[in-house]
Amino acid sequence: MLTFILMFSTLCGSRVVSGILHTPTNVRLTSHNMNLVLRWDPPEQPASGLLYTTEYSDRLSKSKVGCVNISTLGCDLTRLNTSIFEFGKYKGKVRAQLGTESSPWMESNEVTLDKDTVIGSPNVSLSSSGATIEVSIKDPVFAVSALRNVYSLATYNITYWKDGQKEKARSISGLQQNRVVLELDPWTKYCTQVQINTKSPNPNPSEPSEAVCESTTIDEEAPWVAAVVTFVVMAIAVALVAVTVVYRKRISHFLCPKDALPQPFTEHPNSSMYLAMRNSHPPEEIYDPVSVITDSRTLEEECPLETANSLSPHRG
Ligand SMILES: *[C@@H]1O[C@H](CO)[C@@H](O)[C@H](O)[C@H]1NC(C)=O
Ligand SMILES: *[C@@H]1O[C@H](CO)[C@@H](O)[C@H](O)[C@H]1NC(C)=O
Ligand SMILES: *[C@@H]1O[C@H](CO)[C@@H](O)[C@H](O)[C@H]1NC(C)=O
Ligand SMILES: *[C@@H]1O[C@H](CO)[C@@H](O)[C@H](O)[C@H]1NC(C)=O
Repeated sequence: MLTFILMFSTLCGSRVVSGILHTPTNVRLTSHNMNLVLRWDPPEQPASGLLYTTEYSDRLSKSKVGCVNISTLGCDLTRLNTSIFEFGKYKGKVRAQLGTESSPWMESNEVTLDKDTVIGSPNVSLSSSGATIEVSIKDPVFAVSALRNVYSLATYNITYWKDGQKEKARSISGLQQNRVVLELDPWTKYCTQVQINTKSPNPNPSEPSEAVCESTTIDEEAPWVAAVVTFVVMAIAVALVAVTVVYRKRISHFLCPKDALPQPFTEHPNSSMYLAMRNSHPPEEIYDPVSVITDSRTLEEECPLETANSLSPHRG
């Protein structure tokens, strides 16, 4: 643009023919994310060394000074040390200056900030966990106030689709929370876009966010569950191997003993244990009084029940 101005001024000379500076053209007041920027184009017959001065006003007060003696073709009024009200209605004006000469003022359109501002796209990030994707949404930063202060009823509209199938996109709208978990098909790449909807009286949807994509993984269990299970199994296997190596001798000793088992006692008749057992009294048994009638004589005998007929009875 500067080149253009320079070229033009070289062609026409820096002298203003009529003696009156022409006004800047195409003066417009714009707003993006609640800023307030006055923009304009150079006058029809621009001169080199042109400067511009701006003012602005809301409906209630008289004009306030904006940018003064600038050479650029725009002035961000919200960058000045001024208070701009988020629900205000504003107009701007600009004039060209060359030395001591000034052009007439040229006025802009009127802007009602909350109604006319272009709400920028939200910042969207995705993180997948198993067959779900969490969508995290950050509101655009406003030059004046904040999204939730200006549009208390703002909601998100999340649109998502399988990568390459945007025509089959699905939307969830009316969301108020800025973190949403989508339950999706496993092992699939999904893309999402988010738009902010503001409610009446002046519905003013935001620009949609750039599509961002993320892939899901295995169904159900979160990947960390599988990781933990794998880790535990590995740890047990390693522990087993370690124990086997460290106690190798004892284990082989236990499984394949070199010494023969002790001989049966009967082959060591002199062993004290054997003798002790042989000399000990037979275990006490329960006796019931039994009467045996033999040759019409009645003998009272006490015999062990089981051995009554095979053993010679001894009187008790
Ligand atoms: C702007 O430029 C005019 C003309 O050159 C000058 O009179 C005025 O003091 C300047 N204002 C500021 C704030 O620099
Ligand atoms: C902005 O305005 C405040 C009060 O209106 C003043 O104290 C401060 O110095 C100003 N800052 C600048 C950079 O002009
Ligand atoms: C979105 O957020 C990320 C992380 O905070 C940041 O790096 C990035 O610049 C942001 N993008 C926009 C457009 O604000
Ligand atoms: C949500 O966004 C999608 C895609 O831009 C659009 O088709 C749909 O109408 C929107 N829903 C609402 C309630 O704004």
